[in-house]
Amino acid sequence: MEKRNPHVFALEEYTSDYLELSWDWLNDPEIKQLMLAPDFTKEQQWAFFDSLRDRRDYWIRGFSCDSMPVGAAGLKNISPEKQEAEYWGYIGDKRYWGQGGGKQMLRMVLEEARRRGLKRIYLHVWKENHVAISFYIKSGFEYEGEYGVKLRYAMVLE
Ligand SMILES: CC(C)(COP(=O)(O)OP(=O)(O)OC[C@H]1O[C@@H](n2cnc3c(N)ncnc32)[C@H](O)[C@@H]1OP(=O)(O)O)[C@@H](O)C(=O)NCCC(=O)NCCS
Repeated sequence: MEKRNPHVFALEEYTSDYLELSWDWLNDPEIKQLMLAPDFTKEQQWAFFDSLRDRRDYWIRGFSCDSMPVGAAGLKNISPEKQEAEYWGYIGDKRYWGQGGGKQMLRMVLEEARRRGLKRIYLHVWKENHVAISFYIKSGFEYEGEYGVKLRYAMVLE
């Protein structure tokens, strides 16, 4: 029998609290490198936040553990025509790494992708991010190719 995880993980509305926290998360040198996050300003961050309500190609959620905000995840480049989207997600609070949150995050975002009728999900990951790569492979993603410093993996949704 699978061991029950003692934590409760959930996707949440991506509020301005998450936006403020993501400033710290994505500016942490280790996370910035693992995520290949670009430099950005507070102004750019707010412009991004303000653009969210009108975007149909982007779905973003906060991610909580026992009601504490710990990360963010979602789908980008959502294409109803191609029935595909790009997965992204991270746990920004390092105290919560390795506690089963990443698996739950991926499961919940894939559930949303299925709900939207998407048939294929792909993702990009830094080629040196070995933990994330093994996690994605274990989760059923298959290697598609190398693009500069990024690898691309994809999964057909059942
Ligand atoms: C990658 C990330 C999403 C994984 O989430 P997590 O909650 O830490 O991982 P989980 O506890 O759910 O574990 C999922 C799998 O990841 C792998 N994993 C997690 N931590 C690991 C570690 N320290 N070493 C090796 N493998 C590890 C394991 O394969 C694990 O599966 P298992 O428990 O069946 O062995 C998260 O650690 C994270 O966001 N890291 C920082 C930023 C990042 O790299 N994001 C992904 C960018 S593409």
